[in-house]
Amino acid sequence: MHRPASPDDTPALVRMADETGFFRPIEIEALEEVLDDWHAINRADGHRCDVWLKEPEPIGFVYFAPAPMTDRTWQLWWIVVRQDQQGRGLGSTMLRHAEDEIRKANGRVLFIETGSIEKYEPTRRFYLKHDYDLNAELKDFYMEGDSMIVFRKAMN
Ligand SMILES: CC(C)(COP(=O)(O)OP(=O)(O)OC[C@H]1O[C@@H](n2cnc3c(N)ncnc32)[C@H](O)[C@@H]1OP(=O)(O)O)[C@@H](O)C(=O)NCCC(=O)NCCS
Repeated sequence: MHRPASPDDTPALVRMADETGFFRPIEIEALEEVLDDWHAINRADGHRCDVWLKEPEPIGFVYFAPAPMTDRTWQLWWIVVRQDQQGRGLGSTMLRHAEDEIRKANGRVLFIETGSIEKYEPTRRFYLKHDYDLNAELKDFYMEGDSMIVFRKAMN
């Protein structure tokens, strides 16, 4: 079962992201701000944040949004599956859901950013498996030796 995030979910979503060990402290702080901003304003601007539950607990969430000042370009900001639920198909379900919703909103293309370091190899495999093209590498973007890898998929 899934539904839009509620403000009460925020502590569990932030903890879930933190416990994956995939995100830096500054990214975890940013996630809390992203969720607060979503409830305050960005939801009304078409951003989406949907949560999957294994009652009563959230076990995954996906956040996607239209890119401002573009023609129907979307970006996937966050996709996280709780550590003990990974590798069972939930991430794929959430990614397909985001794509379906973006298509319904007449989205043209979806971009996803991730890191180049070894730790993100399974994450990169996940996007390649879902037919994303490796579109760009922004060398040393996050830090020396950690580039931004940009994946792209046309939505039509
Ligand atoms: C990346 C993530 C969303 C994928 O969701 P998932 O439910 O684990 O993945 P699925 O079961 O739907 O798909 C499995 C495929 O994804 C890849 N994969 C990525 N991370 C994986 C993990 N931790 N465990 C198992 N497979 C993983 C594999 O390619 C796997 O396919 P394969 O077994 O045939 O090689 C999830 O593992 C996660 O939250 N990882 C940590 C946070 C993260 O990297 N988020 C994205 C930041 S850009």
